[in-house]
Amino acid sequence: MDLQKKIESYLKFQFHDESFIYLEKNCNTEFFDNVKKKEAIIDNKTTKQSIISQINQSRDFPENDLFAEEPQWSKSDNLEDLYSQIKDCQKCPLGLTRKNFVFGSGNPKADIMFIGEAPGADEDEQGLPFVGRAGQLLTKIIESIALKRSDVYICNILKCRPPKNRKPLISETDECEPYLFKQIEIIKPKFIIALGLTSAETLLKKKVKMSEIEGKIIDYKSTKMLVTYHPAALLRNPEWKRNVWEDMKLLRKLYDEYLQNITNS
Ligand code: URA
Repeated sequence: MDLQKKIESYLKFQFHDESFIYLEKNCNTEFFDNVKKKEAIIDNKTTKQSIISQINQSRDFPENDLFAEEPQWSKSDNLEDLYSQIKDCQKCPLGLTRKNFVFGSGNPKADIMFIGEAPGADEDEQGLPFVGRAGQLLTKIIESIALKRSDVYICNILKCRPPKNRKPLISETDECEPYLFKQIEIIKPKFIIALGLTSAETLLKKKVKMSEIEGKIIDYKSTKMLVTYHPAALLRNPEWKRNVWEDMKLLRKLYDEYLQNITNS
């Protein structure tokens, strides 16, 4: 396989086609020209890593390092700083189509964090998570256990809207999930509520079935996690509201126990 093919297959493996086109547009063409002129190194020992380092050297957008091991934002220790460092993200093609980067909203010291899938049209328009129809239902769900949106923290796996609200691609999730993990690390919630399977599977790093995990207390890196139906799914399937109500009652019970424990200690 020649190097050009190797690069293409590597990038296609690593990224979705749209990303590949994006990367091609954003890299200077010198490296690819060198490949054609056979000046780029190509032999059987050419590895993914050497391809990456050659691509790195040929790129002309140094600030936004696609392959950096430890980006600057990963050192953030507060949400404001993290936001200011990642809000112009162009790691995946959704950066080109978004109107707004939807970081998250709510209490930066929240005990409870709700995590959805990705912004929709309203969220993209306003730059805030869960503000459309599903968001209004989420507000009611939160209020049903005597909490306010401003008590909790709400965000998504993806920070940018996928076109036509399609499901996030694996490549998009791969690029975006480190931002969510950093948010969790900063907020240190005591409870995480994964809204829907996309959110649950991203956090748990495995395929799961709603019937297997819904209503159960799951350990997520020593944080208690519950998985419940996504509010958009509830709009389509109102019969699932009862399950969500049970999940919320369980959350309220666990949260009250937690509050009681810290008062006693
Ligand atoms: N659906 C989501 O998963 N997140 C939003 O912010 C809005 C709708």
